[in-house]
Amino acid sequence: MFKAYHRNGRLAFIPALPVGRRRAGFPAILMNKFVWTKEYELGVGVIDDQHKHFFDIVNKIYGLLEDKNTKDDDVRKVVIELMDYAYFHLATEEKYFAQFAYSDIANHMKYHTDFRIKSSEYLERINAGGADMPALLLEVDDFAKNWLSHHILVADKAYAPFFQAHGLN
Ligand SMILES: [Fe+2]
Ligand SMILES: [Fe+2]
Repeated sequence: MFKAYHRNGRLAFIPALPVGRRRAGFPAILMNKFVWTKEYELGVGVIDDQHKHFFDIVNKIYGLLEDKNTKDDDVRKVVIELMDYAYFHLATEEKYFAQFAYSDIANHMKYHTDFRIKSSEYLERINAGGADMPALLLEVDDFAKNWLSHHILVADKAYAPFFQAHGLN
C-alpha cells in the first residue's frame, strides 16, 4: 500500500506505515486521523485547548500526505506551523511551571527541548533543499503523533493536579 503526492511534476511514492501501530501501554495511534479522546484531557482548559489545536495541525499533515496535489511549499509551511505552535505551547506550560514552582520542571523541560531540537532539524533539512519531501513529511507525521501522544499522556498528565491545585482548571 502506498501513499503518494505529486512533487515537481512527478509522482513521489512513499511506503505507508502499518495501521494501528502502538507502543505497550498506550492507545493505538492509527495512521489516519489523530483522534482526540477523553484520555488526553488534563482538566486544565487552556492547556487542553492548545493540545487540541496540535491535533488539528497533525491532521492537516495527514491531509497533505493523502493529497496528490501537495506541493513542497505546503510541506514547508505545515512544518513551520507545527514548530511555531509547539514553541508557543511549550512556553505556555513553562510559564506556569515557573509561576507555580513546579518541582519536576527540569525533567519536563528535557522533553520540550527534544521537541524543539527535532522540529528545527526538520525545518533545516527542508531549507537545505534536496530533501525527499513526502518521506520527510511522513517522518514529521510519525514523530509528532508519537511525541504528542506520549508526552500528553505521561508528562503533561503528571502536572495536571498540580496546576489545578493552583486554581488553573
Ligand atoms: Fe503539552
Ligand atoms: Fe509538556
